[in-house]
Amino acid sequence: SRQLSMIRDVDRHKDGTVTIGCWLHNKRSSGKIQFLQLRDGSGFIQAVVVKSEVAPEVWEAAGKLTQESSLYVTGTVREDSRSKSGYELTVTGVEIIQISSDYPITPKEHGVDYLMDHRHLWIRSPRQRAILVIRAQIIRAIQQFFDERGFHLVDPPILTPSSCEGTTNLFHTKYFDEDAYLTQSGQLYMEAAAMALGRVYSFGPTFRAEKSKTRRHLIEFWMIEPEMAFVTHEENLEIQEQFVSSIVQSVLAHCRRELEVLERDTSKLEKIQAPFPRITYDEAVEFLQKNGHEFEWGEDFGAPHETAIAEQYETPVFITCYPTEIKAFYMKPDPDRPEVVLCADMIAPEGYGEIIGGSQRIDDPELMEERFAQHELSKEAYQWYMDLRKYGSVPHSGFGLGLERTVAWICGLDHVRETIPFPRLLYRLYP
Ligand code: 4AD
Ligand code: MG
Repeated sequence: SRQLSMIRDVDRHKDGTVTIGCWLHNKRSSGKIQFLQLRDGSGFIQAVVVKSEVAPEVWEAAGKLTQESSLYVTGTVREDSRSKSGYELTVTGVEIIQISSDYPITPKEHGVDYLMDHRHLWIRSPRQRAILVIRAQIIRAIQQFFDERGFHLVDPPILTPSSCEGTTNLFHTKYFDEDAYLTQSGQLYMEAAAMALGRVYSFGPTFRAEKSKTRRHLIEFWMIEPEMAFVTHEENLEIQEQFVSSIVQSVLAHCRRELEVLERDTSKLEKIQAPFPRITYDEAVEFLQKNGHEFEWGEDFGAPHETAIAEQYETPVFITCYPTEIKAFYMKPDPDRPEVVLCADMIAPEGYGEIIGGSQRIDDPELMEERFAQHELSKEAYQWYMDLRKYGSVPHSGFGLGLERTVAWICGLDHVRETIPFPRLLYRLYP
């Protein structure tokens, strides 16, 4: 059988011969030399075919290769300071697997809708590959952060009988004879898990039938939701700032080449170190009013408001203690000022908006009962959740980080649609 190497590992074979399974990304040729740009998923490398140095059938096979044709290439690994990877391949053999014809994504410019229709192929491009590699590194960094700190990964259900973040954007489905909804957030289940395992986090898909067509909204997105027993509001923020700093620093340490492909200004990312500034909702409102925004206490921030606030800082900023009225039913009121809750949204710099929403949770059973009544939530549906306040209730806090917004920010992208392999957007379910 064939012994294959990967492009990312060619440095281990300097001056040796390797065979690589790959695709032709691009090709240039002068009558006597063909320059093949090859990709195998692990990286890109240039392979040089010199007519006078290879068998005629090798030269001929190389000549037949078209964009995205698949092949096994054999060659000698040469160090080459001019190449991005630092290496080049001097070809000795080409074995065609399949010749591809009329590949729909040519090096010319295509519109976004066209590219989205061909998302299954578009992800092969250097730019889309770089984004997905960074996404994978972010996921690795997230798991590492929690695993090193004694958190346990817990998987909440996807099909649920009731809502977590309000009923306006629930995806409805049938569960045999019952009604069911796709999860908006695993939080309520994670609260149960925190009472069992102490510190937990979930990592899974969440769904919101949001009719908003913005560059920050997906219908299906991935959320990381830690939940921690005996942790209060202030400690919750400290964990969040360490968490987000560690993700950014991990990408800087492991994905230099991908950030370069994306032309990301990494000096902005270098500055992402805890602690992050905190301003209260009240202070944010005052800032907006002083800076020409029409905004009243009690309203929720829109994207332009968040951006105006975030522009004041080089790191993410926490906006804390929002009005109780505009936040979720489970958030704990400030004991000194019950019209606001012990919560925070983390707003990313450079206009990327809210990447984290979190809070301390109500632990008092009577207040929780009151909230159910105010929000007209069925007591039966949430009976199990009430039990958590009945049997050894403790102070606890948690938060949710939106993976795609985090990827968009770290990669410096205009739109979240490029942050996930197959985005589910308003009016887009294909491919
Ligand atoms: O602020 P949200 O709605 O918070 C919750 O769901 C809490 N239950 C989390 C918790 O405390 N366990 O959502 C959390 C984050 C947002 O800050 C945002 O980054 C992301 O999820 N998010 C979205 N990302 C992409 N598209 C959407 N439609 C999103 N909605 C929320
Ligand atoms: Mg939120």
